[in-house]
Amino acid sequence: MKPAARVIYSAATIALGCAEAKAEPERAQRDAAEVRAERTLAQMTQEEKIQLLHGTMPLFIPAAKRAPGMPVGAGVIAGIERLGIPPQYATDASLGVSNIMDMRKGDVATALPSGLSLASSWNPALVREGGRMIGSEAVAKGFNVMLAGGVNLVRDPRAGRNFEYLGEDPLLGGVLVGAQIAGVQSNGIIATIKHFALNDQEIGRSSASVEMDEAAMRESDLLAFQIGIERGNPGSVMCSYNKVGGTYACENRFLLTDVLRRDWGFKGYVMSDWGAVHSTEALLAGLDQQSGEMLDRKRWFSTELKPKLVDGSIPMSAVDTAAKRVLWAIYANGVDRTEITPKTIDYSRNGEVALQAAREGTVLLRNEGGLLPLAGSVRSIVVIGGKADLGVLSGGGSSQVVPVGGFRAVEKIESGPAATFARRAWGGTPPLDALRQTFGNAQVTFVDGNDPTAAAAAAKAADVAVVFATKFATEAEDQPDLSLDGQQDALIAAVASANPRTVVVLETGNAVAMPWLAKVPAVLAAWYPGQRGGDAIAEILSGKTNPSGRLPVTFPAGVDQLPNPVLPGSDLPPPSKDDKASYGLQTNSPPFSITYPEGSDAGYRWFDRKGEKPLFAFGHGLSYTSFRYSALKAKGGRTVSASFTVTNTGTRKGADVPQVYVTLPGKARRLIGWDKPLLMPGESRIVTIEADPRLLASFDAARQRWVVTSGKVRIEVARSAGEPVLAARVSLAAQTIKP
Ligand code: BGC
Repeated sequence: MKPAARVIYSAATIALGCAEAKAEPERAQRDAAEVRAERTLAQMTQEEKIQLLHGTMPLFIPAAKRAPGMPVGAGVIAGIERLGIPPQYATDASLGVSNIMDMRKGDVATALPSGLSLASSWNPALVREGGRMIGSEAVAKGFNVMLAGGVNLVRDPRAGRNFEYLGEDPLLGGVLVGAQIAGVQSNGIIATIKHFALNDQEIGRSSASVEMDEAAMRESDLLAFQIGIERGNPGSVMCSYNKVGGTYACENRFLLTDVLRRDWGFKGYVMSDWGAVHSTEALLAGLDQQSGEMLDRKRWFSTELKPKLVDGSIPMSAVDTAAKRVLWAIYANGVDRTEITPKTIDYSRNGEVALQAAREGTVLLRNEGGLLPLAGSVRSIVVIGGKADLGVLSGGGSSQVVPVGGFRAVEKIESGPAATFARRAWGGTPPLDALRQTFGNAQVTFVDGNDPTAAAAAAKAADVAVVFATKFATEAEDQPDLSLDGQQDALIAAVASANPRTVVVLETGNAVAMPWLAKVPAVLAAWYPGQRGGDAIAEILSGKTNPSGRLPVTFPAGVDQLPNPVLPGSDLPPPSKDDKASYGLQTNSPPFSITYPEGSDAGYRWFDRKGEKPLFAFGHGLSYTSFRYSALKAKGGRTVSASFTVTNTGTRKGADVPQVYVTLPGKARRLIGWDKPLLMPGESRIVTIEADPRLLASFDAARQRWVVTSGKVRIEVARSAGEPVLAARVSLAAQTIKP
C-alpha cells in the first residue's frame, strides 16, 4: 500500500494551499505592489487617475482610431505611457479566448470543455493547467486581462449560464475557480472572478433582486468566492448585473466593501459587468472600474464623475483609492512586464490540454450489464443525431470560443434575449470521425436522427447504437424545462426500443431529465466537451480511457424536486422586443424578487434536507474498474478529519474520487473534501481529508462570526452525496472564526 504523499484536494489546504503555492518571488511581487502603486499614484494627474476607472469596448472604436496593436475583445482601458502603466486589454472568458460575434475575423482559439465539465474532473491541477493554457493564448493574442473564472453556484438546472460555472458546491467551486485563476495569472496577466454575487439565473438578470439572509449567502455563494479568492488571488472581481437585497451588486456596499474588503482583505479592483453600473456613487460603495461604459445609461465613472469631484459630492480620495487598486493588481501580477505583442500559438499542444480536460470531465452515469467499454470485436455501430458528424455543441454567449478548425455548423437564434449576440454552434473533432478512427475494424455509419423511425431501423440493423443528444444553453436566457431540445427524447426512446445495446452521449449545459432511462443501459454526460471532446468520447466508449468524472451538480428527477419548481421570473410576461436587458443594458422589464427556499443548502444539500432521491446524485460517476473504501479513522476536535484506504479492486487502472461529507446536527450533508487517487489494479492508497472549519460552522450574522457548535457530528466517506460507504461519529469543539 502506498501512503498518500500529500492531501491535494482536501479543504484543509484551502488556507495552506494558497500560501504554499505562492512562490517567494510572487509573494515579494505582491508585497512590493503596494509600494509601487502608492508611488505611481503620487505622480498621476486627476485625468490620468480617472482614465484607469472606465473602459470602452473596442468594437465601438473605429478601426482607424484604435491604438496600434489593440486587440478586439471585450474591453479596453487606455494605458499611461509616461508612467509605464500598460493598457488593459480584456478578453472573455473561462473556456478559452472567446470571440463573440467573430470580432477578430477568422480567429480561433483552443476551446476547453465547459465549466461543468472542468468541475466534473474534481481535479484542481487539471483546471489550473487549463487556466494556464487559455491565459497563454490570451497573452499571445495581445490581451492582459482575462475575464475568467465564473463561480456562481448552480441552484437551478434551468439557469442558462450554469455551463460556464463550476457546480453547486461552494468548496468544489471555490477550490477549482482558485486553481483556474492561478493558472490564468501565471502568465503575468489579471484574472477576474465573477459574477459577484448571486447572479445565479439569467431571467431578470438586470432587474431582479435576490433576497437572501446574510448567513445563507455567506455559507453558499459568498463562500465559493471567498475560497476562490483565497486560493487564486485574482487581480479583479467582477460585480454582477442583479440586485442583492434591493441594491445593485455593482453599488452594493455590503458586498463590495464590508464583505470583500473588510472581511476578506481583497486588495485588487472591482470591475463592473458590461452594462451593470447605475450611478457614480457606486464608486463610494466599492466599485473601482466601469467596464464597457457605452452599455450603461451614462458614463458614470468619467463624464458624470468629473463635476462631482468639482462640487465635492465625490471626494478625490475615492478616485485615488480606486486607481490605486487597479495599479496594485497590475503590479501584483507583473502585467506591466508582460509582452502582449502577438505570438504564435502551439495549438496542437494546447489541444492536448483540452483533450485531457474532456477525458476527466466526462461522467459515466450508467453502465448496466457492463455494455461499456464497447468490445473491440463490435462489428457495426450506428451513430445517431447531435450533428455528431460535424462536431460537438458549445454553450452560447460571451464565453463561446471559436475552436481551432472553426465552427462546422452554426444556427442563428431566431428570437429572445440571446438572439443579438449568441449562437448555437458545433465544432471540434466530430465524434463520428473519432469513432471511425477508434473502431477501425467496425462499420461506423451515421444517421442524423431527424426521423426517429429511420433512426430506429438503422439501430436495429447495427450491433450498437450511440445517440448523441443535445440541449443548448446560453448566456442571457434560461431554459423552460429539463427536456432535451426538440424531439430527442422520443428519438432516444425509439432507438432504445429497436436496439437494447443503446448508448446515449449527452451534450448539455445542465442536468437534464431522462424519461427513457430505464430502456437505455449506458449514458455518458459529456457536457459541452470542447474541441477535443469527440476524441475523449471515443476513447471512453472504447475503453482506452477509463472514465473518472463525477457530477458537480445533482440531476433531479423532475422540476418538482427543485426548491423553486417554477423558475423565478419565468412566469412573468417576456421582456418587450426592444428590451435589451438581455445583454446588460438598462432594462424596462419590471423588477421582481428572486428567493431561494434552499438558502445555503443549494443542490445536494436541499435533496438531503428534503429526503428526496435525485435521478443522479452530486458526486456520482462510474468507472470501468471498482474501488473499495476501508479502515476509516476519524478525528474530531477543532476540526474533523478522516483517513481511509481506497483500493482498486477491479482489473483496470483507474482514478477514483472518494468524497468526505459531514452532517452536523439538524443540518444537511456538506462536502468537506475529496481526493483523486489514480490506482493500478490491486493497488491501495491512504487518503486523508481535513475540514476547513468554516464548513463545520454556521454563519452568525449578528456576531459577524462563523460559529462552530460543540457536539457529535457524522463523517462519511462516500462515492457520491447519495452513496455513503463508511461512517463514523466524532465530537467537535466549539469555536468562532472571523469571517
Ligand atoms: C457577461 C460577462 C462578460 C462581459 C464581457 C457580460 O455580458 O456577463 O461574463 O465578461 O459581458 O463580455
